[in-house]
Parts: sequence; C-alpha cells; structure tokens
Amino acid sequence: MLLLIQKGTVINPADQTETVADVLVEDGIIKKIAPKQKVKADRVVDATGCYVMPGFIDMHVHLRDPGQEHKETVETGARAAAHGGFTTIVAMPNTKPAADNEDVINYVHNKARDMRLVHVLQAGAVTKGQRGEELSDIEAMVEAGIPALSEDGKTVMNAQLYREAMTLAVKYDIPMLAHCEDSNMVKGGVVNADKTMKKMGFAGISNAVEDVIVARDIMLAKDTGAALHLCHCSTKDSVRMIELAKQEGIRVTAEACPHHFTLCSDDIPGDDANYKMNPPLRTKADMEALREGLKNDIIDVIATDHAPHTPIEKGVGIKKAPFGIVGLETAAAITMTELVDKGILTIMQMAEKMSYNPARILGLDKGTVEEGKTADLVVFHPEKEYVIEPNDFKSKGRNTPFAGKKVKGMVMATIVDGRVIYERA
Ligand code: DOR
Ligand code: ZN
Ligand code: ZN
Repeated sequence: MLLLIQKGTVINPADQTETVADVLVEDGIIKKIAPKQKVKADRVVDATGCYVMPGFIDMHVHLRDPGQEHKETVETGARAAAHGGFTTIVAMPNTKPAADNEDVINYVHNKARDMRLVHVLQAGAVTKGQRGEELSDIEAMVEAGIPALSEDGKTVMNAQLYREAMTLAVKYDIPMLAHCEDSNMVKGGVVNADKTMKKMGFAGISNAVEDVIVARDIMLAKDTGAALHLCHCSTKDSVRMIELAKQEGIRVTAEACPHHFTLCSDDIPGDDANYKMNPPLRTKADMEALREGLKNDIIDVIATDHAPHTPIEKGVGIKKAPFGIVGLETAAAITMTELVDKGILTIMQMAEKMSYNPARILGLDKGTVEEGKTADLVVFHPEKEYVIEPNDFKSKGRNTPFAGKKVKGMVMATIVDGRVIYERA
C-alpha cells in the first residue's frame, strides 16, 4: 500500500526543518520525503497550502470508558481525536471503575486496538480506586503497557504514599502525570477566587489550591528523581516554579490547556457551566503568564483535558454542574488562532508542544516526520477559517466554551500507521 501526501510543507521537529516536499508512505512507514515524487500511489492526499506535521499527541484525555459510556466511549473519543488531528491519546484513569488494575488497562487497550483508529494509551491510577489510601498494583499495570501513572481527577494527598509511587515510576521508567489540587483547600469552590466571581455569588478556588501541590510535587520529584509532568497548569506561580525547577535540573515538564491560555474568568458570560473546569479559568495575569511560559518553552506541552459531559449534566448551572469541557476537536485551531497566528509560538513550537515533546515525555518513538518512522501524521491547513460548531463534533460531548468562536486552522487529514483515518470531505 503506497500513500503519497503531496506538496505540503513538512514540519519536522527532530531536525527543526520546514520543507516543501511530498511524503511517500509504504505499508505504514515513511519511505521518502522529497519534492515532486513520481510514483503510482494507491492513494494521494493533496496537501497544497498545508503543513504536514507529526500527528498530534494528547497526553490528557478523559474517555469515560468503562462506566460512563453515555458521556464518551473509547470509540467516540478516538473519532473525536482523529477529527482533531490527534494520532495518539493518553486516557486518564478516573473511569468507573478506576483504571487501577491490568484488567481495565487491557480492556481499554484491546478496545482501541480492535478499532484501528488512533493509538489509545491508558494511564494507570496511582492508588486503588483513586482513594488515596493504598498503591494500586503498579507493576502489573506496567506489564500491561501503561505509558504513565496518574491520579488525574484528584491529587494523592498523602505525600509519603505519593513519594512511594514516584519511586516506582523511577523503577519502571514512566512519568508521573500530576493533577495538582489540595483537596482540603477547595471548600466547595467552583470558579476562580476573584472579585468578579464573588460578585456573581460563586465560591472560589484560589491559586494556592494548585500552587501548594505544584511546590510539593516538584520537591518530591527532586527527592525521588521521578519524571514529573504537571497537568493543566493554570497559575502564574506554577509557571515560575516550573522555571526554577528546570533551572535546578529537576526532571519536571508541564502542560497548559487551550482554555487556560485563551480564556480568563472575565470571559465567563454568566451562569454557564461550559466555562466550568478544574482548575478553573484564572485571571488575565495568569493567562498571560501561561502564554509567556509557552513562548519561552517553560511549558512543554499543549494538552486538552478533554472532559465530556452530557448537556443535561452541564445544563444545571455553574454551581451544580460537573467540572470539565471537551477539547480534542478544538485544540489545534485554538492553538493556531491564539498562539501561532498572533506570533506567540512558531509553527515548529506548535509541533513540539502538540507532538514531539509529549512523545519524548511518554518515551514514544513518535512526534517526528522522518524517513523510516511510522507514518502518524496530520495535514493541517493554517489559513482556513471557520466557526466552531459543537454539533460537528464526533465526541459525544458538546460542552465547550468555544461554540461560535471564529478560528483559523483546519485539520484536513489524519493518518495513523499510514492509513488515512480521517479526511475532510
Ligand atoms: O475539569 C476537569 N474535568 N478536571 C478534572 O480534574 C477532571 C475532569 C473530569 O474528569 O471531568
Ligand atoms: Zn486534572
Ligand atoms: Zn483531567
């Protein structure tokens, strides 16, 4: 099977090159990258005016399968990922039951494998039932192929228990994906703790809720030598602490989500739970610190924290609705519109933060466009404009604050193992 992706601009973070070329793929492997190739391919994708980038890798997705399949399944999540240009996603463990043993890990991996859509990697919960009391069987989950440990959805509040988990993460050479939130400090907060929110009558979540655990986890990474990856950073002090930790040589990486670098609490139009997520939308100063951190490569990764909920669950107002918004199908366009088009990131940095760096952190031989490597690719048009319409999503989730937003940057085709699994009609 020969696939030819013609006339695109190939973005390869491995050697930092941007070249107009055809990409020839044979049996799932990139065979040749060179201009004007004359071959009789079985399938041709016209990439004129597009970037041909390493397929995006989302390190932070909630698939709700097993247990809450009315919100999302492995299949609908994978289709949403493909629609968004992602070729690999990491599923967080807060399913029902939690992904805290090899059976749940195998269930998700087998389901994904049978679908032959995007690569789905299930992260393993740190503690049994995510109760924070007893470590899960980490060795068995490593054998089942988890790419990382994570307690996402919450924080392991017992620092000693978390330190033991980090020691095992070192032993098995996998990263720890950390959701940083001191559960004792939340106190029923639903939005950022600031003046506007107080005026609206909502209980607040202060920056310190995140910052104290970021500080703790960095110190535990220093203590254990574990590779700590900080999920969905939202505060300016998180960015400062990450910068300091990196200067000290501590193994820490960090992600920011499109909603946190695009919106702030001032943008919440009223009692609309599509603006409710955890951590919450912070102040403009926090948002700007995240943009600066992305620009200066203090923040390594853009991840979505894709968190589907039903319209009924989200329709009950900010106070009562669950935290979370979907993100797989808007992340690339938001990144292009808000960061690349505004000159904050280069297209190369976008490829690094959405693919190359996640691959390095997860230890995957992905995130590049190179001869001899697996053809996980996205054809992305940087100029095509459109309005975000949640009814176009493949996800079961419609819960986005970006409905109606005009964006620039369209996923034209997504290719996994050399197979075109999504192409825009
Ligand atoms: O907004 C969020 N949604 N934050 C989390 O930590 C969990 C996630 C979810 O699972 O819905
Ligand atoms: Zn989280
Ligand atoms: Zn999450």
